[in-house]
Amino acid sequence: MKPFVPKFVWFDGKIIKDEDANVPVMTHAIHYGTSVFEGLRGYWNSKNLYIFRLNDHIKRFRNSGKVYSISLRFTDKEITNAIISLCKKNNVKESCYIRPFYFVGKHGINLHVTEKTPTHAAVVMFPFGELFNKNGIKAGVSSWRRINDISTPPLAKMGGNYLNSILATQESKRNGYDEAILLDHLGNISEAPGENIFIIRDEKLLTPPPSSSALEGITKDSVIKIAKDLGYQTIEREIPRTEIYFSDEVFLTGTAAEITPVISIDGKTVGDGKVGKITGRIRTIYSDITMGKNKKYSKWITPVY
Ligand SMILES: Cc1ncc(COP(=O)(O)O)c(C=O)c1O
Repeated sequence: MKPFVPKFVWFDGKIIKDEDANVPVMTHAIHYGTSVFEGLRGYWNSKNLYIFRLNDHIKRFRNSGKVYSISLRFTDKEITNAIISLCKKNNVKESCYIRPFYFVGKHGINLHVTEKTPTHAAVVMFPFGELFNKNGIKAGVSSWRRINDISTPPLAKMGGNYLNSILATQESKRNGYDEAILLDHLGNISEAPGENIFIIRDEKLLTPPPSSSALEGITKDSVIKIAKDLGYQTIEREIPRTEIYFSDEVFLTGTAAEITPVISIDGKTVGDGKVGKITGRIRTIYSDITMGKNKKYSKWITPVY
């Protein structure tokens, strides 16, 4: 089966053809990175399309803009409806990635952005399979440090923040790794360019807190809850770089990456170099939830049809 071609996008309250959704070259966001975005997944289980943790993504979407006084001129309900109606309009019947975003429009070269500054909002979507090899990836610690709350708040999901992610990704690919791991400004483990990180030591999960410049990941939160159900404790605390080399298991979490095992870091094998036991157990439950096969977490999924 050929992947669907999404013909329509949602732009400022209307569903229009993709080719008709254009912006002027003086759009502020192009010049200064003044955009906010979210990434969601829709999971097709051959009967219905389920959007994972839609409300939580919309909450973070709105919060990100508050940091910079960039206004989202649509209610949560309107954004929810935009996403669902766009899935329907594109007749999506396979797993997809959904990208809502809003950005500063025409504002000249003025850096004084306020709640009144003109903004636009849009939603696009496209077919999406696995981002990484599910058998595990090789990661390397980056020489670039993660952006920090002292200058560029990493908890706000802004377009401009991803310049830091791009630098780390370029370096990791140059060095033959699949993905980068960034340290925060103090040298503790922070996160990957587009994923949170967990390490497992002695059957305990450890993950860096937001104060280590780690995004408040929705997949991360899901994993902590699933792990708790399975009887595993998660400790959110600073993780010095060295500890990562002591780990029994390491995995990344993110909407796009889902739960991706890391089997080597800086050329050193993690555990036995295979998908870890606990990582595997959590991943199976996560996958069942996204596919609508786990009643306990049915509140996390929104059916489209
Ligand atoms: C920098 C960064 N960290 C972590 C994540 C994981 O967040 P989530 O699980 O909400 O997708 C993402 C993806 O959105 C990200 O871009």
